[in-house]
Amino acid sequence: MLERALTEPPLRALPADAAALLRELNAPPRLAAHLRAVHDVAVELVDWLAAHHPAAAFDRRAVLFGAATHDIGKTVHPEELSAPGSRHERAGQKVLLDLGFEPRLARFAATHASWTAPGLELDDLIVSLADKVWKARRVADLEDLVVGSLAGASGREPWAVFLGLDEHLERLGSGADSRLAFQNDYSTSAARRSGEARSGAAVPCVAARRELRSAWAAAEGGRSGG
Ligand SMILES: [Fe+2]
Repeated sequence: MLERALTEPPLRALPADAAALLRELNAPPRLAAHLRAVHDVAVELVDWLAAHHPAAAFDRRAVLFGAATHDIGKTVHPEELSAPGSRHERAGQKVLLDLGFEPRLARFAATHASWTAPGLELDDLIVSLADKVWKARRVADLEDLVVGSLAGASGREPWAVFLGLDEHLERLGSGADSRLAFQNDYSTSAARRSGEARSGAAVPCVAARRELRSAWAAAEGGRSGG
């Protein structure tokens, strides 16, 4: 079921390193489906930003990796797939750091639900925005921060920036029902793997960690800016 959640159309495939990570952690299919929904919206957001706000500085690949992994801590706290909770946030950051991912990539797991915290960048805000808009949720203070960042970069009036963003978010929100249906089609329970302990997330093997790190390093070599 995890494999189907990672590959079933019509949502875009996750970045290869994020998909490999979910397979390695034997993620619950519902989590993989959710990450695909948020990642799909994040792609729409960064494409729109690149076209309409070329002065805005963000790291496209980091944002998409962040969208594709932001709830990875729910492999440690699967109860938060079906009930509110924030324990997955720090746990997810730790999972990624323990696997050798750089802090600038692991941070999204911890920041995606706390957009008013000091020191956050546009990258963090985009991931947070995607994590709301995928289900057509609009959050005024988060959108104000995005508008402020875009207006500051372009020198345009905030109201004009908001009008354009609002129109795009409404358009993205119109696809929420089908994304919710896609996500809710998948189980919140991970499949048991042979020989696996009954509780606790699977511990990735050293070879898989090395593979994930080298996949990222190879991609970084060809990375272009946002
Ligand atoms: Fe999420």
